[in-house]
Amino acid sequence: MTLRPAFADTPWFGGDYNPEQWPEEVWEEDVELMRSAGVNLVTVGVFAWSLLEPEEGRYEFGWLDRALDLLHANGVRVDLATATAAPPPWFSESYPESLPVTVDGVRLSPGSRQAYCPSSPAYRSAARRLARALAERYGSHPAVVMWHVNNEYGCHVSRCYCDESAASFRRWLKAKYETIGSLNAAWGTAFWSQSYGSFEQILPPRATPAFPNPTQSLDFDRFSSDELLACFLEEKAVLRDVTPDIPVTTNFMGTFRNVDYWTWAPHVDVISDDLYPDPADPDAARGAALARDLMRSLGRGKPWLLMEQSTAAVNMRPVNVPKAPGQLRALSYQAIARGADGICFFQWRQSAAGAEKFHSAMLPHAGTETRIWREVVRLGSELGELGDLVGASTQAHAALVFDWDSRWAIEQTGLPATSNYLALVAPWHAALTEAGLTVDLTRGDEDLTAYPIVIVPSLFVLTDAQAKAIDAAARAGSVVLVTSQTGVVDENLHARLGGYLGGLQQTLGVWIEEFWPLGGAWARPGAIPVAPESTVAPTVRVRGSVFGPEAIDGVEWSESVHVRDATVRAVFEEGHLSGWPALTRKAHGAGAAWYLATRLGRRDTAALVAQLIAESGVHVRTPFIDGEGGFVETVQRGDTLFVINHGTTAVTLGEEGTDLLSNADSLGLVIEPQGVALIAPMEACLAGFRATDSVIASAPMPK
Ligand code: GLA
Repeated sequence: MTLRPAFADTPWFGGDYNPEQWPEEVWEEDVELMRSAGVNLVTVGVFAWSLLEPEEGRYEFGWLDRALDLLHANGVRVDLATATAAPPPWFSESYPESLPVTVDGVRLSPGSRQAYCPSSPAYRSAARRLARALAERYGSHPAVVMWHVNNEYGCHVSRCYCDESAASFRRWLKAKYETIGSLNAAWGTAFWSQSYGSFEQILPPRATPAFPNPTQSLDFDRFSSDELLACFLEEKAVLRDVTPDIPVTTNFMGTFRNVDYWTWAPHVDVISDDLYPDPADPDAARGAALARDLMRSLGRGKPWLLMEQSTAAVNMRPVNVPKAPGQLRALSYQAIARGADGICFFQWRQSAAGAEKFHSAMLPHAGTETRIWREVVRLGSELGELGDLVGASTQAHAALVFDWDSRWAIEQTGLPATSNYLALVAPWHAALTEAGLTVDLTRGDEDLTAYPIVIVPSLFVLTDAQAKAIDAAARAGSVVLVTSQTGVVDENLHARLGGYLGGLQQTLGVWIEEFWPLGGAWARPGAIPVAPESTVAPTVRVRGSVFGPEAIDGVEWSESVHVRDATVRAVFEEGHLSGWPALTRKAHGAGAAWYLATRLGRRDTAALVAQLIAESGVHVRTPFIDGEGGFVETVQRGDTLFVINHGTTAVTLGEEGTDLLSNADSLGLVIEPQGVALIAPMEACLAGFRATDSVIASAPMPK
């Protein structure tokens, strides 16, 4: 049996619908308003376990029967949740050992949500049972088009340190290493007297007196991601068994740290994402663009679903600024531009009680005479007209390596410096995006030769497969940029001996002797930080013509770079490394391989990216005449060019065509802040084009 199509003729539009929070009289109004807003998909039952199974093995499906029938009668499709993300009180009472334990040995209590250990056999079997009961009851319900397994795996509990987790970790290690000898070798246990006599002696990296074993910690990160994936796969297997033709999803969380989405993505029929950019962050749209590109890349270009976003404010931050007027629309079009075929929200009707009652919704506390409701209705009606975009592909011009092993490893303690991996990657994405390029993310171990530009930021853990793919891209003609702290260790976190950079020394024509981080305050994990200067950072003077005639600031980092066969394009001008290379370039095969031994501020990142673009021959489409005052996003999907003004001043379009949203001529069209234009028809761009056969060429308009 083949899977039914996951998307409809027009983009999905809707949100989480929690009818169990309201008396049934309200449901009639819900569906009537859904119809008037153009809602065609809702996710039902995400946190309804305690009402669906009020006692172990006793189900109460009547209310859900009535809710689904009502939705169906009103033409609203259902993404039905398996409801396993919040075990009910009876479950925690009967199986107290299923409650998760923190690194410090604290067993967490029920009374919130996600209070389960992913390795708990009791949890696993209760989740499978509930999934089966739901699949058997609703698998043939005409409203159900998709299964929504659990919710945001790992959001609150992504690592559990209890005895059950310890036992499962040992099983995972046995399968990986087979013998305790090979584990000892991989973990480097000769250091600090850690040699294990048997697998039974091994524990998770619980709170320790000094640094935990780094490889043990990294293996525990990998294990924990796999363990959550195992929870998902067990439920998915049950659903496939009962309903082999219904697609299955689970909602990812953008660039979430604790789960390696590259290993998950092949198992998910529909990639779906929850993203809550902070409206108080002026860089929020840039960071969100990265997350959207990740979703498209995880699905290898397949359409994905924006499962959750807010209409205005969230309530999870200390201060929750609402989205600006028009911002929910602008950010929704950003997702569509970058490959989404559906836009949904958390949640349909704003809760009156519970922990999230001050979180915005499609239908606010104040009802329909509201700004938010009007914005929701407008978006729903516009999306209903955009059927032609469904299934169209978004073409990328550059690849950016994004790797969870490197992320986990470079954020450990006991390093030259503990870094924030996202802060090392996001500025490159932002610079490429602001230059008008679209970026695919990649783990870096696949064929990259079709990309004119490949950027490899701080790939701390470098595998041989990654080194080979990056080298092959440069040889085939890509312009490759590798940045500091790449190739420092192998998969077991053993240092690459003989100068850092490992297998990329040949490609780049340089090797690294010593790390020289600068003293001072550094960016720390948090929001997606697209520019290091958003924090106060230590700097070192750097000079190179790529950056213009003046010296610029290298930020936070320096390294002593030895050149074998590359040209030096910038040097450090002060400190202990004064006179040493900061930036090098080697002509390599048909392409080039650059190495950057420091980090850069926003302006200088843009200058270096501009150099790479010029060298690659990619022609960038800049469809607006005046773009001062912030980020104006341009992305081509199918034959439609999206122009989204996330900035603070209006821009004027300089591109011929018709704006699909206003039906106006696009040439000379003014796009206000938070405004959007969808210009069509545009000549389609081709995947993997190179300088010689570039088809996105469009002369920049004169200022
Ligand atoms: C997540 C969850 C939702 C809700 C929202 C609030 O995305 O999946 O249940 O808590 O956050 O922003």
